[in-house]
Amino acid sequence: MRLKGKSALITGAARGIGLEFARAYIAEGATVALADINAEAVAKAAAALGPQAVAVQMDITRQDSIDAGFADAIAKMGKLDILVNNAALFTAAPIAEITRADYDKLFAVNVAGTLFCMQAAANHMIARGQGGKIINMASQAGRRGEGLVAVYCATKAAVISLTQSAGLGLIQHGINVNAIAPGVVDGEHWDGVDAFFAKYEGKAPGQKKREVGNAVPFGRMGTAADLTGMAVFLATPEAEYIVAQCFGVDGGNWMA
Ligand SMILES: NC(=O)c1ccc[n+]([C@@H]2O[C@H](COP(=O)([O-])OP(=O)(O)OC[C@H]3O[C@@H](n4cnc5c(N)ncnc54)[C@H](O)[C@@H]3O)[C@@H](O)[C@H]2O)c1
Repeated sequence: MRLKGKSALITGAARGIGLEFARAYIAEGATVALADINAEAVAKAAAALGPQAVAVQMDITRQDSIDAGFADAIAKMGKLDILVNNAALFTAAPIAEITRADYDKLFAVNVAGTLFCMQAAANHMIARGQGGKIINMASQAGRRGEGLVAVYCATKAAVISLTQSAGLGLIQHGINVNAIAPGVVDGEHWDGVDAFFAKYEGKAPGQKKREVGNAVPFGRMGTAADLTGMAVFLATPEAEYIVAQCFGVDGGNWMA
């Protein structure tokens, strides 16, 4: 029970990686606020996890929703020790076809959402005076560009940069800010990615998934469960001296 007595808020926790992190944190003794824009799905997910889980409806693109969501989570749990900035959107298009609407939407969720959730958590943690842990979900996509994935890659590069700045700005308060960069993780998110590649590269449904899985040095796509070890570790006191870093958990896809 490495997180006994700790309270965590995880954004985008109605499904996928965020939901798996919630499960792992609860198994380690934490209470978790699952926050998501999808109220119905997050309520269902939290109910299935039992009494250590609470559901919070939050749209991280809206400051009023962030303020209300953090207040709700802190009221329900009594405090906040850990934030996982996990919610994100993906899109793909050739450079010539990128739209401003997609650009604005992705930066609003993946970058501004991450920044202002960090701020909300940090303000509470600083006022409380007992430090905290913030974990941002970056991506291997933030380490380099991709011809069809310019906007998503740019948002994840920004998440790595924000992790570095916030890491340096908040460690004086005992708040560790670090990031995880997954590679290719199977799930509903990647079903959507696969569909984009089917459209732009003329691949059969499922073909891109098989290709990226075969290309991973480990030999397969990742699962959300492959990431929980790092997500738990970064939230424990053992990670106290780790500041402003981004860790690849990607089966060997990228060497930082
Ligand atoms: N799956 C992968 O291969 C992969 C690889 C690298 C990085 N990542 C990153 O890991 C994280 C989780 O990925 P996933 O595969 O579980 O994604 P997912 O699409 O399955 O889940 C994202 C969740 O975020 C929620 N969300 C979307 N917009 C929101 C908003 N405005 N406010 C609140 N919640 C919102 C969605 O409702 C959804 O529940 C993301 O940051 C993603 O970029 C995923």
